[in-house]
Amino acid sequence: MIEKNFDIPFIAGLALREKQIQQNFRPIIGVHKWFARRPGTLFRGLLLSEFGNGPLKEIFYQANRLSGLTVADPFMGGGTPIIEANRLDCGVVGVDINPMAYWIVQREIANLDVEEYRDAATRLLDYLHEQLGPYYRTTCLSCGNIHASVKYFIWVKTIKCQECRQEINMFPGYILATNSRHPKYVLICSDCGELNEVESDKAPGECSHCHSQLKTRGPARSNRCLCPHCGTLNKYPQPQQGPPKHKMAAIEYYCPQCKQSHKGRFFKKPDHVDLEKYHQSEERWGSLEARFVPGEKIPAGDETDRLHRWGYSKYADLFNARQQLGLEISCRWIDKMTGGETRNALATNLSDLLRYQNMLCRYDASALKSLDIFSVHGFPVGLMQCESNLLGIVDEFKRTQVGSGGWLNIIEKYVKAKQFCQLPFELQYHNGRKKQITIEGEWIGTERTFKEVTRQKIVDLRCSSSTALTLEKETLDAVLTDPPYYANVQYAELMDFCYVWLRKLVSNEPSFQPISTRNQNELTGNNTMSRGLMHFQNGLAKVFQNMAEALKPGSPFIFTYHHNDLNAYLPIATALLDAGLVCSASLPCPAEMGASIHINGTGSSIVDTVFVCRTTGVVSRKTLTSSPEEIAKLVMMDLDKLKAANIRTSQGDMRCIAFGHLIRLSVWFLRERWNVDNEPQTKLKTVEEQINVLGNWSAIKEYLLQRIEAPEKQQWLALEYHEGYGGESDKISF
Ligand SMILES: C[S@@+](CC[C@H](N)C(=O)[O-])C[C@H]1O[C@@H](n2cnc3c(N)ncnc32)[C@H](O)[C@@H]1O
Ligand SMILES: [Zn+2]
Ligand SMILES: [Zn+2]
Ligand SMILES: [Zn+2]
Repeated sequence: MIEKNFDIPFIAGLALREKQIQQNFRPIIGVHKWFARRPGTLFRGLLLSEFGNGPLKEIFYQANRLSGLTVADPFMGGGTPIIEANRLDCGVVGVDINPMAYWIVQREIANLDVEEYRDAATRLLDYLHEQLGPYYRTTCLSCGNIHASVKYFIWVKTIKCQECRQEINMFPGYILATNSRHPKYVLICSDCGELNEVESDKAPGECSHCHSQLKTRGPARSNRCLCPHCGTLNKYPQPQQGPPKHKMAAIEYYCPQCKQSHKGRFFKKPDHVDLEKYHQSEERWGSLEARFVPGEKIPAGDETDRLHRWGYSKYADLFNARQQLGLEISCRWIDKMTGGETRNALATNLSDLLRYQNMLCRYDASALKSLDIFSVHGFPVGLMQCESNLLGIVDEFKRTQVGSGGWLNIIEKYVKAKQFCQLPFELQYHNGRKKQITIEGEWIGTERTFKEVTRQKIVDLRCSSSTALTLEKETLDAVLTDPPYYANVQYAELMDFCYVWLRKLVSNEPSFQPISTRNQNELTGNNTMSRGLMHFQNGLAKVFQNMAEALKPGSPFIFTYHHNDLNAYLPIATALLDAGLVCSASLPCPAEMGASIHINGTGSSIVDTVFVCRTTGVVSRKTLTSSPEEIAKLVMMDLDKLKAANIRTSQGDMRCIAFGHLIRLSVWFLRERWNVDNEPQTKLKTVEEQINVLGNWSAIKEYLLQRIEAPEKQQWLALEYHEGYGGESDKISF
């Protein structure tokens, strides 16, 4: 069982590495973007420590077959737990309210003829090159090659000055590239727009072209932009003017002829041919009638309101003419294909490609690449945007891809994902060296014929709300899930961005009939849809109850959770208590990338708590503490285990680990006097009071800080704690 066999340092070490580059560990995620994907290695570790036969560290790298078991996930999202269970031969039941999640997991699990897919993708690429190739070519400044490939077009927003009516380029700053990936800084001249390569951003000197002083700071900041022509301070955004306008400010390109002799990247100011090409694409787009580019209105929403504030009213407004043209032509080609999984795959690719082919993408001046629209969980509108080459570029020498965000990148990613389904692997690290171990005998899918034997796996995927889920009683061997974290991510609002396109390509799909993926039953707090904490609490309780009833007695109900606010954990405790579940362990595991862009600098934690719960079972007496000092010791032990995996933890992590224990213990101490019929508010209050009895976070923190600041003075961790899950005398039944 997990409580005994789970190996925190081993799995935490793998999960941390996985989160740094998730694609290396689990290429299957390349099927399509989903938000907040948890590490696959964590779920593999959990399943094997519950059901596997042998020490986790060994069986993790062997083929395992858990046939006959059924595992469910009521919030499957991108499908991580479902895929891990399916790979281990378990039958799976996966549910999500969002049609996009349902579609994506279907594609992950579907059998795809990779060769047939590759053929079709190559034909599509050839066609796109013929139709659109010239729009992504530019002239190399070094050798005059007119067939150099554009990697990225960088655009700046413009407004008309309210006073002098002249156009203003709303640069927030003029640094196009820093010297981290390129030998020098690249600055755009504020006067003539020419690009200058300079040693320092502190004293950049004068423009080599027009001799004006080079600047790093631009005229636009904090919703105000100074007109360089008349000095008027203009406010922005100006939604009444319609969607923002853009001017092409720079190009990063790739010249195979010069690559060998050229240091760093290739940048240029757009020349008249570049501008003319864009103009041609605009004209061509103007002559077509949109059949796939979505003219649908963007509905109001917690996240989408920002788009309205910027004057974007239709989804189509988020794409420039060249992007609309390229995407429309791609859709038309896919639409002509006869049905089947290859067509489904290419439609999914189109949807994933949208992330990079829109005018909300930004150019990262130090990494020198495009940041896709979902690099944060919202729709932030920048002042400078990045348009990626739609086709993708190949480095002829190395046979690798150059740049990101084109069809080629998406296709390669998909091929890798589906190859992983046939031949999954694990990565092992020895003294910092990586070894890929193929796990022969495991596979992901519904059916496979191998050496003339056909085997099938049970896969039951549903697109519905898990609050209304009815499963047969006592049929599940485990529930493995990752519930929404109250209001962290607005899944539906964000995914609609892809959905409005995809549903035109797969119009027969029953779950794709609604015009939006928004659903009143989605378990996220949302002001626009008037969903508060009560909605979350009641819904979560309903789902937990449904799952607890469907579980065989004593089988585990496991979920990960992570929040920086203790209040967001209270509904977890009430839902567990309502469902009659007891938490027999809370385990720490890294689940976010340390430098992840959306949490970077916010002091938030990267460690999730994995709650292991059961309706009946045993719990270790030693973990049933009830004072801040004792809880602090448990936190310290968890931190030590993470340290053993070389994980540096922050105060935020400590706090999340402590929250996990507080919730686990509150459930334990409240379980016998819990009244399911109480009002939701009363329930929350009861948990809150219990937490205060146990000693809240500030009391625990005090002990932790003492120990961290003067470790030598503290005879703190009595040896007995290191024994872990103890012998018979340590067990208490519930
Ligand atoms: C944190 S995500 C799961 C992520 C997933 N574990 C992964 O690794 O990709 C939570 C999911 O719950 C789904 N969800 C929210 N409310 C739901 C409901 N009432 N019924 C079913 N699914 C729901 C969301 O659409 C979202 O996909
Ligand atoms: Zn060249
Ligand atoms: Zn200049
Ligand atoms: Zn002016």
